[in-house]
Amino acid sequence: MKPATKLGTRLSRTVANTTGLRFASGEGAELVASDGARYLDFVSGYGVVNTGHCHPGVVAAIQEQAAKLLHVSTVGSTEPATRYAERLCAVAPVEDAKLFFTNSGTEAVEAALKLVRYASGRPNIVAFAGGFHGRTLGSLSVTTSKAAFRAGHEPLAGGVHVVPYPRAELAPTLEALSRLFLEQVEPERVAAFIVEPVLGEGGYVVPPDDFLPALRELCDASGIILVVDEVQSGFGRTGRLFACEHVGVAPDLMTVGKGIASGFPMGALIGRAELMDAWAPGAHGTTFGGGPLACTAADATLDVLEDEGLLENAGLRGAQLVDGLRELAGAHPELIVDVRGRGLMIGIGLASAEVTARLRTALLERRVIVSTCGPDSSSIRLSPPLVIGDEHVQRFLDAWRDVLREW
Ligand SMILES: Cc1ncc(COP(=O)(O)O)c(C=O)c1O
Repeated sequence: MKPATKLGTRLSRTVANTTGLRFASGEGAELVASDGARYLDFVSGYGVVNTGHCHPGVVAAIQEQAAKLLHVSTVGSTEPATRYAERLCAVAPVEDAKLFFTNSGTEAVEAALKLVRYASGRPNIVAFAGGFHGRTLGSLSVTTSKAAFRAGHEPLAGGVHVVPYPRAELAPTLEALSRLFLEQVEPERVAAFIVEPVLGEGGYVVPPDDFLPALRELCDASGIILVVDEVQSGFGRTGRLFACEHVGVAPDLMTVGKGIASGFPMGALIGRAELMDAWAPGAHGTTFGGGPLACTAADATLDVLEDEGLLENAGLRGAQLVDGLRELAGAHPELIVDVRGRGLMIGIGLASAEVTARLRTALLERRVIVSTCGPDSSSIRLSPPLVIGDEHVQRFLDAWRDVLREW
């Protein structure tokens, strides 16, 4: 007989448990640990439960659908999938949109990377330094947010060129692009740009407003496909349904996931019909993508986002949080370097990775959960459920004040 192991040790050690807690349930903006302790969740499973934990409307829709039909794949269509595809294409900021359903963000990115080469016949992709697009081999090849993600997995896919993501100024990025086109690869050999409208894992950085419009212009001039990765920034997180809407740019292809279905695994590649139909029938596929349960959860999620005004709330609560945090930054400039963000996608730059780790632990002791981001993990990232109210913001800021008072 095999020796008994401690419960939970059968998971590969690559799986991190950043709090060491075991959770039994969740409700709105709170997670409940197995000992009954309630935690204010400002992570949302990494920007996923935008409608809050176990939103009753989403849960009821899933329960009802689960009793009817769980899975058919491409053997036939289902009403939830056809209905939701229509709805998502109608709200996406993509002209004459069609889509391909996946089960995760990285699969949506894989689909995009395959399609841009297939449709354009061009081999090269340009990505932006600090970008995170996923962990499978293709998406990892365009991911440059942390060397540790890539280490040991090389060689990654070829034909990827990386230029700086603009942080304060657009000029260095444009300069790097023109040098790239001059010295390494002609624009006519570039299939696509893949870009996050707000840098996520790489540090929660909002680029200058003229960044995406400038990329759009370059794409139009050289027949390059603009892929906007909205996996983390989508579904209301920044105060608009999709972050690229803040600057009025329509992508050719858009990848979505995370918040799409309130925690049910799902993603999609959405794009201009002409591009999406460049694939010959069967050229790409999936067993589970677009299943009736996932589409039902996603449909109910859009209902909640719309009916409860969660986009407006994200803008409002985001501004309230940024104001409160900037006040704290003013009082503790030696610890808090900057506060940045859009809607409820907020990054707090701290003096060092050590300060970040200590703050995170001190907040957890006060039952507030946050996560980190940036290449050296020196920023705290906030991605709370979009349902948070004034009382959650106050509770969150009180915990910070308490931590900083005792620093
Ligand atoms: C912008 C972005 N793209 C893609 C992904 C990959 O999504 P998934 O973890 O669902 O594969 C992520 C995940 O964090 C992301 O933030």
